[in-house]
Amino acid sequence: MIKKGIILAGGMGTRMSPLTKAVNKQLLPLYDKPLIYYPLSVLMLAGIRDILIIVNKGQLSQFQKILPKNNNLGLNIQYKEQLKPRGLPEAFILGEKFIGKDNVALILGDNFFYGQSFTLKLKGCVKLKKGATVFIHPVKNPNLYGVAKINSQNKVLKIIEKPKKYISNLAVTGLYFFDNNVVKYSKTLKPSQRKEIEITDLLNIYRKKNNLNSEMLGRGGVWLDTGSIEDFYSASNFISTIENRQGFKIACLEEISLKNKWIKIKEMKNQMSFYGNCEYSKYLKNLI
Ligand code: G1P
Repeated sequence: MIKKGIILAGGMGTRMSPLTKAVNKQLLPLYDKPLIYYPLSVLMLAGIRDILIIVNKGQLSQFQKILPKNNNLGLNIQYKEQLKPRGLPEAFILGEKFIGKDNVALILGDNFFYGQSFTLKLKGCVKLKKGATVFIHPVKNPNLYGVAKINSQNKVLKIIEKPKKYISNLAVTGLYFFDNNVVKYSKTLKPSQRKEIEITDLLNIYRKKNNLNSEMLGRGGVWLDTGSIEDFYSASNFISTIENRQGFKIACLEEISLKNKWIKIKEMKNQMSFYGNCEYSKYLKNLI
């Protein structure tokens, strides 16, 4: 069972400058919550409460204001600063001590997921014992992402980073599950042309060993990009549409913790006073 997860929340967010000049992108509002709540909620829905958040050097105090180590969420949150972004697999090199001898999940700090069967799929993925699993999702513009070609058993046959030639419409999302070899393999990676070590190269090591599986988030599920300002606002609109229709919040961390029995009414009340008098607190009040 995978019990540890890493959120990669570094990066300079250059594509969203000037919004990201003073504040890390993952702390900007995606509708009614900071962006990082969404990937964190994904790990929590998977049953993961040991969390390492990797942040840019100098931005630790920003994150700790909203997600302190001593939190009311029933989570064990640790932080690690990244001096310079050197590619996604660096998460496993920086996270070596945190990972120890265990298997681990990785989610990119700006990925948004939603869908009815999503939690069920997550629960399946954390059962991983050996190899790696990627989450894939059909998109119209696969050339912007890592792309996978799979067989009928969901084994990944081919995986290419931003392919120029069409291989499939299945994008590799920013949610991954790895066995403990990931630390060792990450250390062997050489920087690509964009001078970063690439997650696709790491995944290819698993694929060559016939050990790379995929989990499909099909057309009934949602995976949204928050890479550009346009994407950010369409994701915000999506969330506001759903939340205002249903009256449920997407990625309410306290709600997930309460359902997972990680916290009780007392922690809910602590969170309400932590947030102060706001819509989000009112929502928490209604839950109890
Ligand atoms: C990264 C990965 C890519 C993946 C994407 C998901 O792309 O390299 O394989 O599909 O995240 O968000 P980047 O954001 O570095 O361009």
